[in-house]
Amino acid sequence: MTNVIFASTHDTTPQEWIAPLQRALPLAQISNWKDNAPPVDARFAVVWKPPHDLFLRETRLEAVFNLGAGVDALLQLPGLPADLPIFRLEDAGMSVQMAEYVLHALLRASRGFEQYQVQQRQRLWHPLPDIERESWPVGIMGTGLMGTRMAQTLAALEYPVATWSRRGKEIAGVHAYAGADEFPAFLARTRVLVNTLPLTPATQGILCRKTFEQLLPDACIINVARGEHLVEKDLLSMLDSGHLRGATLDVFAQEPLPSSHPFWDHPAITITPHVAAASLRGATIKQVAAKIQSLLNGVVPTGAVNRELGY
Ligand code: NAP
Ligand code: GLV
Repeated sequence: MTNVIFASTHDTTPQEWIAPLQRALPLAQISNWKDNAPPVDARFAVVWKPPHDLFLRETRLEAVFNLGAGVDALLQLPGLPADLPIFRLEDAGMSVQMAEYVLHALLRASRGFEQYQVQQRQRLWHPLPDIERESWPVGIMGTGLMGTRMAQTLAALEYPVATWSRRGKEIAGVHAYAGADEFPAFLARTRVLVNTLPLTPATQGILCRKTFEQLLPDACIINVARGEHLVEKDLLSMLDSGHLRGATLDVFAQEPLPSSHPFWDHPAITITPHVAAASLRGATIKQVAAKIQSLLNGVVPTGAVNRELGY
């Protein structure tokens, strides 16, 4: 019997994951993590924000499946063996949600919906100047599953779109920039900067004053990746100085965002509670079960995390 442990400090109803996972893997024994219990000697762990002692207790793991795209928190856990394979979630319905989220944030600015909302409250009938897409060049950091779908969506709507990533990626109708050398040129043509990078030592704090200063005037920031990418005080000071026009933030260094945080009341900041793209349960379980089955059949599935790069 193959033991699989489900370990999430995030889910209050783990059975909603465990029951369908058990149905998808009838020959395995799926159990829920219990604090202060003996190990179940699991071969596989299915996790999201797992308890800190997961790897100290379950020492026979052969692979870990992360129920999200980002593995930054998982890689910080104590006792994580350096050679334990980790598989991240690949899309599973998230990239389309990300594209919707970014499109919504872009349209609020580019189509003047923010101003029309204010006007409605004042009973004002005052059409704004026509939209000029060339005035809204979008720059997407990261051309993985999330960034690629966004770039394709916004390019199809005829916004000027460029991407920036480590290696560069060709996407029809989109200008690709790659590596640290091309970062300044990417920023210099960008007014709407979207962050979809994984959080790694190389990307932490990348949304900082130096980056913002290189953008086109009246720029917007959309951060859907991780809060630690953003240097919060730099964002606040550049919004207050008028260098930046606004920010749409889905992720924060501290979540939930503390009620005393200055972002809540800032007129130029729009906040959502880390919901830009949810791991949809059906698609996620189907993917994870197929990957476990693949390993059981001796075939390494896709989505392995490169431990050196951290994503
Ligand atoms: P992915 O497929 O692994 O793509 C990562 C992209 O970032 C790749 O294009 C990669 O470049 C690029 N990259 C990594 N390090 C870089 C560096 N130092 N410089 C330049 N580019 C770099 O990841 P994904 O599935 O698109 O997800 C991205 C992130 O979104 C996740 O890590 C997670 O933090 C976040 N996320 C948030 C939510 C939410 O609800 N807010 C939901 C899902 C995901 P290469 O192509 O050259 O490798
Ligand atoms: C969500 O934030 C994810 O990484 O999937």
